[in-house]
Amino acid sequence: MDIRKLLADMTLEEKLGQLTQLNAIFFKKDNTVDITGPVSRLGIAEEEALLSGSTLNFIGAKDMKEIQDIALAHQPHKIPLLFMQDVIHGYRTIYPIPLGMGCTFDEELVEECARMSGKEAAVSGVHVTFSPMLDLVRDARWGRVMESTGEDPHLNGRLGAAFVRGYQGDDLTGKYDIAACVKHFAAYGAPEAGRDYNAVEMSEHTLRETYLPGYRACIDAGVEMIMPSFNTVGGVPSTCNRLLLDRILRKEWQFDGIVISDYNAYREMIKHGVAEDDKHAAELAINAGCDIEMMSATTYLHAKELLDEGKITMEQIDRAVLRVLDLKDRLGLFENPYRAASEDEEKALHLCPAHRDLACRAAEEASVLLKNEGVLPFDKSVRKVAVIGPFAKEQGIKGFWACAGRDEDCVTVLSGIRALLPDAEVATVRGCSWELGETEVPDLEEAIELSSEADAVVLCLGEYQQHTGEGNSRATLTLSPAQMKLAEAVIKHNKNTAAVIFGGRPLVLTDLAQIVPAMLYVWQPGTEGGNAVANLLFGEVNPSGKLSMTFPYAEGQCPIYYSHMHTGRPVKRPKTVYEGGYSSRYLDVPVAPLYAFGHGLSYTTYAYDQLILSDEVMTPAAPLEIGVTVTNTGTRAGKETVQLYIRDKVASVARPVLELKDFAKLELAPGESAAVIFTLTEEDLAFHTADGTFAAERGEFEVFVGPNSEELLQATFRFEK
Ligand code: BGC
Repeated sequence: MDIRKLLADMTLEEKLGQLTQLNAIFFKKDNTVDITGPVSRLGIAEEEALLSGSTLNFIGAKDMKEIQDIALAHQPHKIPLLFMQDVIHGYRTIYPIPLGMGCTFDEELVEECARMSGKEAAVSGVHVTFSPMLDLVRDARWGRVMESTGEDPHLNGRLGAAFVRGYQGDDLTGKYDIAACVKHFAAYGAPEAGRDYNAVEMSEHTLRETYLPGYRACIDAGVEMIMPSFNTVGGVPSTCNRLLLDRILRKEWQFDGIVISDYNAYREMIKHGVAEDDKHAAELAINAGCDIEMMSATTYLHAKELLDEGKITMEQIDRAVLRVLDLKDRLGLFENPYRAASEDEEKALHLCPAHRDLACRAAEEASVLLKNEGVLPFDKSVRKVAVIGPFAKEQGIKGFWACAGRDEDCVTVLSGIRALLPDAEVATVRGCSWELGETEVPDLEEAIELSSEADAVVLCLGEYQQHTGEGNSRATLTLSPAQMKLAEAVIKHNKNTAAVIFGGRPLVLTDLAQIVPAMLYVWQPGTEGGNAVANLLFGEVNPSGKLSMTFPYAEGQCPIYYSHMHTGRPVKRPKTVYEGGYSSRYLDVPVAPLYAFGHGLSYTTYAYDQLILSDEVMTPAAPLEIGVTVTNTGTRAGKETVQLYIRDKVASVARPVLELKDFAKLELAPGESAAVIFTLTEEDLAFHTADGTFAAERGEFEVFVGPNSEELLQATFRFEK
């Protein structure tokens, strides 16, 4: 398609339509059930809404085709609609929430899962997914931590790029390729007090050093679109933030793809108090560099006036429209507006065995064994198992953003265990509900009875899927009094108890950890959750997940993360409460978290030794090789994520105590050893120096290798240039 010729032929209204994205409901005959108000509230007529160039929130191939037909019938130049959707961790087959996927430390698996969900989405008519979410998350109070792969820029960047590759394939020409949209640019993960949509205050240094690299990694991986965040950064909403959108994104990073606002974010600039009205909002967003406006029509309604007044230019409009037409063209929509949408393929692919198997593997690898005092794995030949707790039979374990996923597709822990142990007697009781702050345990007596009689008890606790995600911040992160009461009673009557904990964020498990012999954290594991949990509990699969986000000891520590700065007055023993006065401490809780970044146990053990550096000195021309030997010293095969960190000892600005720079996931048979060799280059040592340049400074560095961010072998080297 000659899109420039097409552009030259389009009216202004048609062009502005391409820059407007409306809910799919607006294309249906009955648009009265809109979740954010009928078309009239947007200020445009129904006919005008039909000129819009893209849509979101539709479900399925049939729906898509109907809407596409309606749109094509109204488009003077028969320009097909782009269909976008939040395909975040699966489409119909749901794999674990991204925070769980972060714990896999497995780029191939992440890519495979993105590929699988892209395929399911493509046959349902999706062209663009609003994923991956690359917000760095360090405050578990924020509900959207579940959408991110975690707290570390290096890990997030590598996994973010894997998501992009999985969705987009090589160049979007594959039948099942869909375009990806990285979000939410920028620093949405650091809202004050962990409250969603709240202001973000941070220095440009921290922004560039820590919060931006994840998004950048996706741009480098070729992501097609980017979405500015809802929040303000330094007082300026991202939607009109010229530092972010113009200087950094367009000029420094040379991003020439589509910038799409978040839902109604143009109009929210009025509530932020930076735009006077709709017209002003459109002016601010367009001048900052936004292309598509999601779920409001300020551009459509006011661009003409703004053009006449010289506040925006036709060149800006044309450039944005060209970007949209170009993506449509490269997706092949002008030739085939339905693209891969097919009801037959939906039937064949959605929830097919291969996709379920992958979702099961992902749920197994995402789960983190936080604690195990010899209880797990349970013996598969047990006679009586008790599955107790609010999540024993709960199917709502797919997570907040499960798109076309349905609770009824999810395998519960109870059915997973029953399927794995057909000959065992598997009894269950709910005990109490998962409601926040619940105090009543209606089934306490029954729970005690079942646990007393059982050979093994699986205690299913945690946080419900709708208690995380967008708009769902929490100020308390502990289990409810009812869940704790249930746990205490059950554990008192049976020590052979393992807790399986569901959650969309790191919960505060300090009290439970003191009484329960074993804890397996399974996040919101998705469609195959119960099968994965059964396989892990009964030793069919050896747990290998490692935390991609720190688990606080108490909420008051939030934000808490391993890669923090030094203080001038560090505590000597961060794991104990008392420390001499005038140190960087709390009076009532330790400084250290309950579980550190990178932590995760296995049913086997690993020994790390022989940390060897290729030289004492590294130079730009001579990267440093760091070798370590890892041995499986236990009796089971397992997977181990070997982590490499550095510390820049003296620099022109304070540097974090530790920074992850590389990792490798090994598979080792019992007794097997493997040598891992990491390479550090000058770029790995670079940071934003005191004079603002991005460079490595000469001097002494420490390098650490180990199984988590706390138990590390250490060596030193010098960097010279
Ligand atoms: C969210 C985005 C999402 C969009 C479209 C917004 O509320 O912040 O992450 O992509 O809705 O559903």
